Amino acid sequence: MPLPLFPKPSCLILSAGLAALASAAFAQTSSGAEEAGVGDAVVPFALPQSGPFEPADIEIENDQAIADWFRSAHANAAAEAFRHWDDEGQVNAACATCHSGEGFRDFHGLDGSEAGVVDGEIDVGGVVDCGTCHNAGLSEVEEVTFPSGVVHPVQGVEASCLTCHQGRSAGKDVADTIADRALDQPDPELRFINPHYATAAATWLGGYGEAGYQYDGRDYSGRFFHARPVESCNSCHDPHTLEVGFEPCLTCHQADSPQDIRIARQSYDGSGDTSVGIRSDIEANADTLMRMIRDYMDEVAGAPGIYDGTRYPYFFSDANGDGAIDMDGGEPVVYGAWTPRSLRATFNWKLVTADPGNYAHNPQYSLELLYDSIADLSDPLGIDMEELDLLR
Ligand code: HEC
Ligand code: HEC
Ligand code: HEC
Ligand code: HEC
Ligand code: HEC
Repeated sequence: MPLPLFPKPSCLILSAGLAALASAAFAQTSSGAEEAGVGDAVVPFALPQSGPFEPADIEIENDQAIADWFRSAHANAAAEAFRHWDDEGQVNAACATCHSGEGFRDFHGLDGSEAGVVDGEIDVGGVVDCGTCHNAGLSEVEEVTFPSGVVHPVQGVEASCLTCHQGRSAGKDVADTIADRALDQPDPELRFINPHYATAAATWLGGYGEAGYQYDGRDYSGRFFHARPVESCNSCHDPHTLEVGFEPCLTCHQADSPQDIRIARQSYDGSGDTSVGIRSDIEANADTLMRMIRDYMDEVAGAPGIYDGTRYPYFFSDANGDGAIDMDGGEPVVYGAWTPRSLRATFNWKLVTADPGNYAHNPQYSLELLYDSIADLSDPLGIDMEELDLLR
């Protein structure tokens, strides 16, 4: 089915709908579009200045789509993912592709500009708006390049999901950084490499997409083809609510929730428990890996560290090992004793855990990256892999 496109006139009507919804939802009595500036804490939209608006003007066929989208993360104009640049007044070109519909259109040349680069000034206040996915030009985007350099062919709206949910760095960046440095030698030049967030498409392409740090001599599962009709982003996610309906899964799976789905008859985490979802194995091995990363920082790198998922760059120093982040002049002390070995294991840990849907996007690849990272750390820690009883 061709995607509905929005020529100019109905765009205005659409904006009218959004304004009506925005003001209704936030009980604004006279939300003139002018007031809906970015600095305004109450109105979550930067609206075009074309009010006043009437709810009755909303096109009926768009009604449900708008209401669904409006409640989704893509429309959450208050989120850090859309407000991070408020103080700068413009969204940084390196970030705009994924943090604003306007930036996305600029990147793909859908606004008539050169494709493959954000060359315009991108205003703050944008979200993943309708014209990000409903855009005639999108059908001409035939491939998407991943941070690994892998170029993946795409069709239609998938181009949009894969552009924004691919992360920002890949195992290759880690490999280039550590190059031939001594594996267990702390190096103050090394910094934590963050794969970025909501990296679903990277997980999904697996070893073929080369998102993770793939250890020499190991084979990795490729793209998770799964099964028709669950072979694309939108066959599982409603493109507007972004939610995953559970009913369709039950055609093929027996489970109480997506998290409970399991096909594997063997246990990957050494628990022997195959009554739980495969997600549970992934989580358990991720926990094991994090414990080993911390032991390694302490025992091998000689500098204990702490992970705090709420603050970038996530790893901080705990020199005296008391479990509290060291502070210096009121600021947390960023971890500074990375070794090539801890850097690559931590990248994989973050990549897997940065995708809450890893178990449905590519359970096998997730398990492989975790296993190999655990095995790599087990060596200097003197841990016997046999005793951990994990399966790759
Ligand atoms: C390839 C696409 C892409 C690029 C490029 C990108 N981001 Fe993101 N970023 C995302 C996605 C997707 C999320 C949403 C994660 C979520 O909250 O679910 C995100 C989330 C964020 C968040 C919110 C994190 C949180 O904890 O809520 C910040 C901050 C951020 N990005 C900063 C940046 C900066 C700064 C740049 C440029 C230097 C950038 N991003 C470039 C895709 C991208
Ligand atoms: C992230 C991408 C994305 C965004 C953003 C988006 N859509 Fe859609 N929309 C889709 C896809 C994909 C379909 C096709 C769904 C299908 O085939 O089942 C679709 C279908 C539709 C349809 C057809 C009926 C339906 O619901 O399937 C309408 C109408 C629509 N969108 C309107 C909108 C409006 C209005 C907005 C903004 C408020 C919007 N869309 C934002 C991706 C998107
Ligand atoms: C222009 C970039 C962009 C495009 C295109 C895009 N997304 Fe997103 N997506 C984001 C950002 C940014 C967030 C995080 C927003 C936030 O934190 O509120 C996000 C959040 C999500 C979430 C998380 C929802 C939640 O509740 O946290 C899902 C699922 C998602 N997107 C799926 C998709 C799918 C499927 C497509 C393709 C149809 C798609 N996205 C297209 C940028 C994009
Ligand atoms: C087999 C079904 C399936 C497919 C295909 C699929 N997903 Fe997911 N996705 C899920 C499930 C299940 C979750 C976890 C949802 C949860 O825990 O609430 C999820 C989670 C996510 C999240 C994180 C949501 C959050 O709460 O932060 C994002 C982003 C996402 N998916 C994007 C995508 C993109 C982009 C694609 C295509 C490359 C895709 N998904 C393909 C089933 C799927
Ligand atoms: C048409 C049948 C079909 C549908 C529908 C389907 N799946 Fe699957 N699923 C499979 C098959 C077949 C496998 C095994 C694939 C493989 O290992 O290569 C699988 C594997 C999985 C796994 C990995 C289980 C394990 O132990 O490795 C998860 C998780 C999963 N599916 C989640 C989902 C979710 C969530 C949905 C609904 C959104 C869904 N599936 C819908 C057929 C289906």
